[in-house]
Amino acid sequence: MNKLLLIPLLLFATLLSATSCGGDEPRRDGHEQVPPGGDDGDGGNESEGTDSAGDHDLHRYLVLYCSRTGNTERMAQTIMSELNCDIVEVVPETPYDNEYSAMLDRAQSELAAIEQGVYPAITTSVESFDDYDIVFVGYPIWYGHIATPMQAFLHSHADLLAGKRIALFASSGSSGISTSEADAARLVPGAMFEESLLLTSSTMDSMETRITQWLESLGASSEEGQDNVVEDLGINIIVGSQIITATMEDNGAAHDFLSRLPLEVTLEDYNNGVEKIFYPEPELSLDDTPRGCDPVPGDITIYEPWGNVAIFCQDWSASSSLIKIGHIDGVGISLLQGAGSINVRFERQ
Ligand SMILES: Cc1cc2nc3c(=O)[nH]c(=O)nc-3n(C[C@H](O)[C@H](O)[C@H](O)COP(=O)(O)O)c2cc1C
Repeated sequence: MNKLLLIPLLLFATLLSATSCGGDEPRRDGHEQVPPGGDDGDGGNESEGTDSAGDHDLHRYLVLYCSRTGNTERMAQTIMSELNCDIVEVVPETPYDNEYSAMLDRAQSELAAIEQGVYPAITTSVESFDDYDIVFVGYPIWYGHIATPMQAFLHSHADLLAGKRIALFASSGSSGISTSEADAARLVPGAMFEESLLLTSSTMDSMETRITQWLESLGASSEEGQDNVVEDLGINIIVGSQIITATMEDNGAAHDFLSRLPLEVTLEDYNNGVEKIFYPEPELSLDDTPRGCDPVPGDITIYEPWGNVAIFCQDWSASSSLIKIGHIDGVGISLLQGAGSINVRFERQ
């Protein structure tokens, strides 16, 4: 008998360990735990392939990941919270040594053993992926390859993953993802691979924006409220005891701005009442954001050379260095007009 059938329903390590993979049952933060492929009770359901989650109209996703120092884990958690989906950490049976050179030695010998068909032991097993439309598989790149615990997981679950849509995501210092994509195709030959996402140390800072765009390109949206896939672009700007509203653009910089709300700043006067400005820290990401703006009163912009946000209180000349990220609704700009600095609070509606 296949040994896997004897494995209890699910063995997952805890999610919480940042230094080595720990995992347990799949969870969605702030929501009840929902074991994939099983009933929602206390386990013990050995049947495979039953749609035990019931008929659901929503797309469902699972995030699988392995992480030693937390980079891939942050990506996994961002995907999980954007999609409000299940998440499972793949856990090596023996935790990795904190001592770096010992860690590297072990990784190298495990990669060499995998070439001989011997995979390191892991404590993570998933009984079925039937409930999931896309399985997100995340790992750090080790010597160009998928980190060994995730290779072991994919190898031991290849049959169950056959026919599934898999979206790979990875983190690395600087290496590309293509060698690891070839690993995945070899380990799970029956899967359908979506476009992958790689973040390196130089792109990790814009993780949220990049993940959002990637998920959009995959057509993946939150399991809750899938009818409402367009993010609400409305914001309130609180000035003293008064509130004005603004509508943000649907571009990368505006989404980065929205992700930082609520935000309290002092708007400084610039150019004798033409603009009210502040400097976001860090600067807003300009990925996927069209350049150039012919500002009118109420426009919320970024001045690219300085990285400041500039809210126009008066008409001004067009510039390719200005980037529009929103506009204050109606005549609300009148509250910001006039000399002097103003304390404001930006928040989502
Ligand atoms: C054993 C080992 C091998 C690595 N090999 C590479 C590599 O070939 N290329 C690279 O750019 N980064 C490499 N790195 C760096 C990791 O890919 C990078 O730090 C990654 O973000 C770590 O992810 P984590 O925090 O989820 O563990 C390696 C790290 C380790 C520990």
